[in-house]
This record gives sequence, structure tokens and C-alpha cells, in this order.
Amino acid sequence: MEHLQTYLANNKQRFLDELFDLLRIPSVSADSAYKDDVLKTAEFVKQSLIDAGADNVELCQTAGYPIVYGEKIISADLPTILVYGHYDVQPPDPIELWDSPPFEPVIKDEKIYARGACDDKGQMYMHVKAFEMMMRNNTLPCNVKFMIEGEEEVGSDNLPPYLRANVEKLKADVVLISDTSMIANDVPSITTGLRGLSYVEVEVVGPNIDLHSGTFGGAVANPVNVLCKLIASLHDENNHITIPGFYDDVVELSEEERAEMAKRPFDIEAYKQYLDINEVQGEKGYSTTERTSIRPTLDVNGMWGGYIGEGAKTVLPSKASAKISMRLVPNQNSEKITELFQKHFESIAPSSVKVKVTPHHGGEPAVTPIDSKGYLAAVKAMEKTFGKRPIPSREGGSIPIVALFEEVLGLKTILMGFGLNTDAIHSPNEHYGLFNYYKGIETIPHFYKEFAGMYA
Ligand code: BES
Ligand code: MN
Ligand code: MN
Repeated sequence: MEHLQTYLANNKQRFLDELFDLLRIPSVSADSAYKDDVLKTAEFVKQSLIDAGADNVELCQTAGYPIVYGEKIISADLPTILVYGHYDVQPPDPIELWDSPPFEPVIKDEKIYARGACDDKGQMYMHVKAFEMMMRNNTLPCNVKFMIEGEEEVGSDNLPPYLRANVEKLKADVVLISDTSMIANDVPSITTGLRGLSYVEVEVVGPNIDLHSGTFGGAVANPVNVLCKLIASLHDENNHITIPGFYDDVVELSEEERAEMAKRPFDIEAYKQYLDINEVQGEKGYSTTERTSIRPTLDVNGMWGGYIGEGAKTVLPSKASAKISMRLVPNQNSEKITELFQKHFESIAPSSVKVKVTPHHGGEPAVTPIDSKGYLAAVKAMEKTFGKRPIPSREGGSIPIVALFEEVLGLKTILMGFGLNTDAIHSPNEHYGLFNYYKGIETIPHFYKEFAGMYA
């Protein structure tokens, strides 16, 4: 592996310049105004795989943005790693809170600042560069297939049909993804669980038109008032979710498992300071780490209605809306939870208003075993490059496709992410440490070597 170290050292600046070029293309999948840029990004990723030495590189068309596919098959006798990542990014809003423009990457304090720097362009590109290193040094130890999509941030709607239609083509022994976080740069970890997601939009409709709040206020239901009350009632005084049946399928961890989790280093004071909050809150009986990984949640993501312009306008709004996400844990099912939500929400609405619940995307939770070949290969790889044994860590975010890799392709996923929870993904000033970028590129070839070694 020494020649790889030399190659990395000799190509460090170019690896960074290329990532900067990738970060300059604003591939916001949620906003159709960026359509050409998203397509340009797919072309960029395609070319980067060709340049790195992949074969059969193509853009696979879907009903939405294309999936970039490429492979290097060196022998049918060797195992195959399927690398997944995404080239789309979240919208940069609120743009005025960025210290530098989101699509003009800069280095500050040893970190790359740009939308997508960590999620997921930076982490995805580490795989392209690690592959290039192995190709140039003739040390690729097994087969590899790349599948990089452009709709992860909007729910990957077109990925399940692609998986089902390409079971043979995507045949592999493990899926490898870098799109998650580690505990800290000196506390390496491997993600062993992700939460699922149910996302709904609710609308409360009162009178057929915005009214004078003096003339009608007090006698006609105010949809914003009602919506606030309804939403408030979704948690009880212990911060349990009140939707009947919501917890029915939740797998409770054993006391041993919880004790093991509690050993994970976590500095609550630093956490509060980072967020500038006086106190944490959450479901009674669970720690902050548990609340953000092994427990389901319900959160309003956005809410609107009535007058929100400058000054004061006296109005009794006709409508109010909210976008609500529920993070799910094993064995909850997103469709079932969405249904439970809908039924409950409709049942608690007063007859003075009409309510409408519209489901958005969903995804199932996933947990990965810690005794698989892939997991052990990841442990060995990170142990080599970090000088410390990584610990398992369940996370709160969602990558819905992970459950489908298992269901459709029968494959376990290894979530070897190199981000940090402080990287501000989805937020203004997203960033990714240079340490993390290069450490990822260095670690990935070790994973390939260890994984291939287990089949020798
Ligand atoms: N990379 C994230 C998921 C993630 C972040 C997992 C941090 C673990 C730690 C991914 O791009 C993402 O943002 N997923 C969405 C879900 C999707 C259906 C829009 C999420 O978790 O909100
Ligand atoms: Mn991501
Ligand atoms: Mn994301």
C-alpha cells in the first residue's frame, strides 16, 4: 500500500482541484431551475469514472435524473463491491447565511466550504479517486461497480425500478457507501443503522377566503390556530408521540445493547454549545444519542399560513399548512406509519375546519450486522489508517435505498462515512475537512484489499 501513499501525496492538489470543479456545478435536484446543471454533473461524474479507468461507463436514463454506472471487472472469481453515492445536493437556502457563495468552494481552517462538500460530492468523489489510485498502481484487488444517482435528496423515486430492472447487472457481494458521519476524527466509527422516513404535508382549511380578523375573529376557526393545536397534540408531556399504534412495531434495544451504546463518547456540553441551546429535550427515558438513532421522532420541517410579509396585517387566514417528517426505526414501516398519521390527524381535526394529508416520499430503516465480511473489512481498513479500532454507531439520518439493496439485491451495505455531524450538511456553510477527504481516499483501497482477502 506504500505506492498508494506516494501516489496520493503526489496527486493531492489535483484531487482537490477536481472536487472543486465538481462542487462548482449546482446540482440541486429539488429545484427544476437547476436541471441543466444536474445533468452537467452527471456528465462530469461519468467522465471522471472513464478517466479513472472504469469500463462500460454510461448514463442510465430514468424517469428523472440519470444514474451514472461504471465498472471494472477483472475476474469472475473475485468478489465485487458495489459503490453507491449521489451527485445531487440540497438547495443552498437560506443563501444569505453563507459566509461564501455555496457553489464557489473555498478552503478555510483546513475545511472545504461548499454545498455538497460532505453530502455527498466530497464523499462520493473519494471513491472515484481511490479507484483511480488502485487502477494506476495495478492494485485493484477485486471487481467494482459504481452506481451514482442524482435524486437522493428528493427521495430516490426512480431508483427502486432501476434496481429491480438491473438485478443481474448490479450483482455484487457487498454495497459500500460513504454518505454518513463518524463520531469524531479521533473517534472513528462505522454506521450500523439508519432511520427510515415518513414525510407528509398537512393542510387545514377554514373559511373560503382570508377574513378581517376583527370582524370574524372569535367566531370562525382560525386554521393557523387549529394547526398549532393539532401539531402540539402529537406529543405528550413525556415527548412520546401520541398517534395510536405509532410504537407498535418499534424494536426495543436490550439493556446490554443500550449499555454498549452509552459507552460511545458524547460530550453533551459541547453539543449544546455547538447548537447554542441551553438544554436538550426529547423522549423521556432516553439519552440524546438514543433519541437521535434508535428512537422514532416526529418533527415539523416547515409551516406557513396567513400574512408573513412586513409589518402587521389583520387577517384571519383561510388556510394553514405544515410539512412533517417522522424518522422511523426497525421494524416500523413507512407506509403503515403514514397511514396511521393520516387516520389520526383526520380524526383529531375539529369539525370547524377541513384537513388534508398528502404523503410525500418515505423510506425504510436499516441496520447492518457487525459480523459480516464487509463490516470486518471496514474495521480493519479504518484501524490501519486511523490507528484506532472504529466503533459501531447508529445514526439518525436516512438513506432509503439501503433497505432496498437488501430487499431487491440481497446485499448488505457497509456505511463507511467520513463526515462529521458538525459539517453542516443541508445547512448554510456546509463543509468537509481536508483530513476527512484524504483519509477517505486513503482508507477505501484498504477496504478493497481486506474485503478481497476474505474471499481468497
Ligand atoms: N447523507 C444523508 C443521510 C445521512 C446524513 C445519514 C448524516 C447519516 C448521517 C442523505 O443525503 C440525506 O440527507 N437523506 C435524507 C433522506 C432523503 C429521503 C431525502 C434525510 O435523511 O433527510
Ligand atoms: Mn447524502
Ligand atoms: Mn442529504
